[in-house]
Amino acid sequence: MLDAQQIAAWHDTGFLVLPGFKPPAELAAASARAHALVEAFEPSAGASRFSTRDRSLVADAALLASATTVRCFFEEEALDEAGRMHVPKSQSINKIGHALHDLDEVFIAFSHGPELAALAADLGLQAPQVWQSQLIFKQPHIGGEVGWHQDASFFVTTPQTVTTFWFALEDATLDNGCLWVEPGGHHGPLREQYVCDHAAGTLQMRALDATPWPATAVPLPVAAGTLVVFHGLLPHRSAANRSARSRLAYTLHVTDGAATYAAENWLQRGADLPVGGLD
Ligand code: FE2
Repeated sequence: MLDAQQIAAWHDTGFLVLPGFKPPAELAAASARAHALVEAFEPSAGASRFSTRDRSLVADAALLASATTVRCFFEEEALDEAGRMHVPKSQSINKIGHALHDLDEVFIAFSHGPELAALAADLGLQAPQVWQSQLIFKQPHIGGEVGWHQDASFFVTTPQTVTTFWFALEDATLDNGCLWVEPGGHHGPLREQYVCDHAAGTLQMRALDATPWPATAVPLPVAAGTLVVFHGLLPHRSAANRSARSRLAYTLHVTDGAATYAAENWLQRGADLPVGGLD
């Protein structure tokens, strides 16, 4: 799958951009399914706002329940102060997660296959375990900013193995909120850990290291069909989308079953829906 130059770049920079990884037919099926899930969503059934600026906006119980379901989370700016939707439903959803890859036929197909398994092997994941899938909408005009973070904060393993697979289902541009990364930043420490007390049902972000977030970064504008893979320690962010175009992306978070998965990670799987691989 990857040549020696790409593998060297992966170790050096902590990310790889793979244009054309997904063919147009798969992109169309995934986008259509994403919009159908939103259309079928009944807001009165209960939804939570999602904000990375204030994670307390996510009701803890709702987030924890989404580990083994397919659940919609509202865009922070989609609701007024009284909690009423003031944009059309089709533009109100921030993301859908977190078990699409195990429960939805379209995303089961999208999330598995020999190409993904071969890529994971090239990246050094001996026994890939896919913990989470997310559809991230980055809606026109109100798509929220995602501040600097490291995905390893949410999926701690010993040793660190979590790897993010970020699929552009639509073109991601400077205007609609593409990824920004710090090349080589994965050589730095893990700054924060998102710790879950499962007995109490509570979550908190714990500071681990005072290393400042990057002062400089590079944008990764990519065409639909591109797969961006990045290391769990790579600092990354994305800007708000104030443009008229959405920036739909689909992500998978994958660890190595050869590592120890932390009991404090919010996302746990039981025997009813065990964690699976990529093939
Ligand atoms: Fe992230």
